[in-house]
Amino acid sequence: MASTLAATLSIGSTLSFGHKSGSLAQPKPVGVRLTSHASLASFSGLKATTSSVSCEAGSSFLGKESGVALQRSVANKAQKQSQRLQYHLQPRASFKVAILGAAGGIGQPLSLLIKMSPLVSALHLYDIANVKGVAADLSHCNTPSQVLDFTGASELPNSLKGVNVVVIPAGASRKPGMTRDDLFNINANIVMNSVEAIADNCPDAFIHIISNPVNSTVPIAAEVLKQKGVYDPKKLFGVTTLDVVRANTFVAQKKNLKLIDVDVPVIGGHAGIMILPLLSKTRPSVSFTDEEVEELTVRIQNAGTEVVEAKAGAGSATLSMAYAAARFVESSLRALDGDGDVYECSFVQSDLTELPFFASRVKLGRKGIEALIPSDLQGLTEYEQKALDVLKPELKASIEKGIAFAQKRAVAA
Ligand SMILES: NC(=O)c1ccc[n+]([C@@H]2O[C@H](COP(=O)([O-])OP(=O)(O)OC[C@H]3O[C@@H](n4cnc5c(N)ncnc54)[C@H](O)[C@@H]3O)[C@@H](O)[C@H]2O)c1
Repeated sequence: MASTLAATLSIGSTLSFGHKSGSLAQPKPVGVRLTSHASLASFSGLKATTSSVSCEAGSSFLGKESGVALQRSVANKAQKQSQRLQYHLQPRASFKVAILGAAGGIGQPLSLLIKMSPLVSALHLYDIANVKGVAADLSHCNTPSQVLDFTGASELPNSLKGVNVVVIPAGASRKPGMTRDDLFNINANIVMNSVEAIADNCPDAFIHIISNPVNSTVPIAAEVLKQKGVYDPKKLFGVTTLDVVRANTFVAQKKNLKLIDVDVPVIGGHAGIMILPLLSKTRPSVSFTDEEVEELTVRIQNAGTEVVEAKAGAGSATLSMAYAAARFVESSLRALDGDGDVYECSFVQSDLTELPFFASRVKLGRKGIEALIPSDLQGLTEYEQKALDVLKPELKASIEKGIAFAQKRAVAA
């Protein structure tokens, strides 16, 4: 059995943060803790093991029950077969997730990561390109969820029926020299059509928008849902998790901290200077020189371009984006499953500033956003306050561009 468990993978991350009496407590790692004879250094994310495995499970992709089942299967060969069958055949919860754009650079690794979740019973893969091969490939993974493929516009409605969470990475990615706004015209139409179908087929689903420019595509989605009479601002999210993931990584590297402990809230929007990491709110508390603040802020803001340039024409961030999006899906599923301690940053309808949409930390619950967390915006440093003042007009323009696009198309229709 040990050999069949070689390179067992599980996922965990600092997804959840204790929130006590209006102030955020220290980040609480909730990932599965794996111990092995030759375990790799732990980090916030995938943990690979190269030898036999025992699990002390928290919650995450391999949740508590799944982790315990896995542990037993290692310990007792006689019971192994039935327990493994039970684990593999019965997801811990039965949520359905649809990915629109599942054949793409983000869609494929994202599908794989979600296939590993014990909270998912069905994974619907939709793309205008043929997604059958991706689905066939994934369906051989012996994790509980069933994988179904849907190709082309005629199959879009069926891909959405009964779904709890829809993730949208459909669209074109940024090429060198392109800004996120260059993508606007291509992706605005794709998001609009996708959200129209969501409104008609699964209006209660959580909607996670990855397609850029998120600052505009989220307001577009809101307009479409309003036009359809099914807008619930608590369930519409722009996925900015990659900004948080990058901020956590870069800060941990710079300050030599354990990755799993680091939490940096990132607010504002999701492009260039509109991405504002609040380094003064880093947990655990850590001090930065002015030079470090400037260097880290600029690196976090330009991290997407770092990847676009390194890929030299082959697209933008896909693997780290898939990781970040999977974390956000997992957080949403845990909230839907009744976990009362789930916090993430996301670009959402907001009243924390004068802007109608704004990225901040939010508390997730069964019905979507339970609360926006204002405390991160209080007591900003002079640098952060200035950066916030500077980003607002640009973010306002991106939001208005999205709203105007959706309203114009509605009038034309
Ligand atoms: N939010 C973020 O942090 C973030 C980070 C990176 C990339 N992105 C964005 O994610 C999007 C996808 O990036 P990618 O690298 O996966 O691109 P990609 O070109 O590799 O994949 C896009 C996929 O979408 C599919 N598609 C196109 N039109 C569609 C439609 N109408 N319905 C369904 N599927 C459709 C394509 O066939 C393709 O498989 C881009 O808009 C990119 O800018 C966002």
